[in-house]
Amino acid sequence: MKSDTLATHLGRDPGKNHGIVNPPVYHASTVLFPTVEKLKETERRRLEPGHTHYGRMGTPTSFALEEAITTLEGGHGAVTASSGLGAICLALTACLKSGDHALIADTAYHPTRTFCNEVLSKYGVKIDYYDPLIGAGIEELIQGNTRVIFMESPGSLTFEVQDVPAITQAAKKHGITTMIDNTWATPLFFNPLDHGVDISIHAATKYIVGHADAMLGIIVANQRTYPTIRNNAVRFGQSAGPDDIYLGLRGLRTLPTRLRHHQDQGLRLAKWLQKRSEVIKVLHPGLEGDQGHTLWKRDFSGASGLFGVLLNDYTDTAVAAMLDGLKLFGMGYSWGGFESLILPVQPALSRSATVWSAQTPLLRIHVGLESLQDLTADLEEGFNRLNDDKLKG
Ligand SMILES: Cc1ncc(COP(=O)(O)O)c(C=O)c1O
Repeated sequence: MKSDTLATHLGRDPGKNHGIVNPPVYHASTVLFPTVEKLKETERRRLEPGHTHYGRMGTPTSFALEEAITTLEGGHGAVTASSGLGAICLALTACLKSGDHALIADTAYHPTRTFCNEVLSKYGVKIDYYDPLIGAGIEELIQGNTRVIFMESPGSLTFEVQDVPAITQAAKKHGITTMIDNTWATPLFFNPLDHGVDISIHAATKYIVGHADAMLGIIVANQRTYPTIRNNAVRFGQSAGPDDIYLGLRGLRTLPTRLRHHQDQGLRLAKWLQKRSEVIKVLHPGLEGDQGHTLWKRDFSGASGLFGVLLNDYTDTAVAAMLDGLKLFGMGYSWGGFESLILPVQPALSRSATVWSAQTPLLRIHVGLESLQDLTADLEEGFNRLNDDKLKG
């Protein structure tokens, strides 16, 4: 079945739920067992997906989302976590131990870097960052103790597309586990496991939930890595709240439709911005001529609505005047909801293996589901404020 159909039907069974379309939300800590024999049995089966043992190990609500995302991603199993960052940390700690070496894409989400630098390092894991555009060249960075290669594609803030198959091919030669932050593409626009990645991670907080009202993470793993991931989640006592998981399941139903609209609006707004004199460059892999376009076209089946806009040389005050007065673009962290967002960002502060050399302001835009005409009108007024300041200066 196509992903539109799967997203609509996976993880719910009205036939077993009094004909009701949506599944119930299980709020649970204690699970009762009628006999000593059943109690013994549950101990043996406690890590099995779909087996209820104790609330923290999962309920039919978490199993439903895990099953649905696993199917969409083509994985063996999935584990939900309390946030996207929680999922990333779980995956990394599951596959690394003291004395190991990990290669992390230089464009990884900043808190992923902070976790590596401040927590993994503390526990004796050696971290090196690599140029996300390295492709097969990653092999030269592999050391005898390299156990994990972490990717994020497109990269946070600057949207470089990685050559995932080239990286996984090199990793496989050396028995290294690969994982990717796949939040931007969602399971609908990129399936990393089909390209040799072992573990695909989503901040479901973004597009899967889709309404800016829950924190949620999910890790999809292949057969080899799934038991380690599940076991690590249990060891860490990680679990997501049932209501947030339900919001993830509900978001999934409209994800294909929302995402297509985010894609369409995003590309149209990106092209509009390309024509503006205030803009040096739009960083969007869906645009022809973008650095990542060829790889994006080869591996992805769509683009979401998050991209970067590099402005001409405007002062911080001018950018603040532009952003402070916007009526439709909210300023705040996160993205992937129904609403448009804009944020001034500074990639230079999050790079160590590469250099972000642009000196002029960079904005990150998330295009929501508002009318594009209204959004461009809002930005047009913003650009007027930007230019006013320059004229004054
Ligand atoms: C690419 C990426 N990965 C992971 C995360 C973390 O997700 P969460 O906020 O659910 O912890 C974010 C959040 O902004 C993100 O942008």
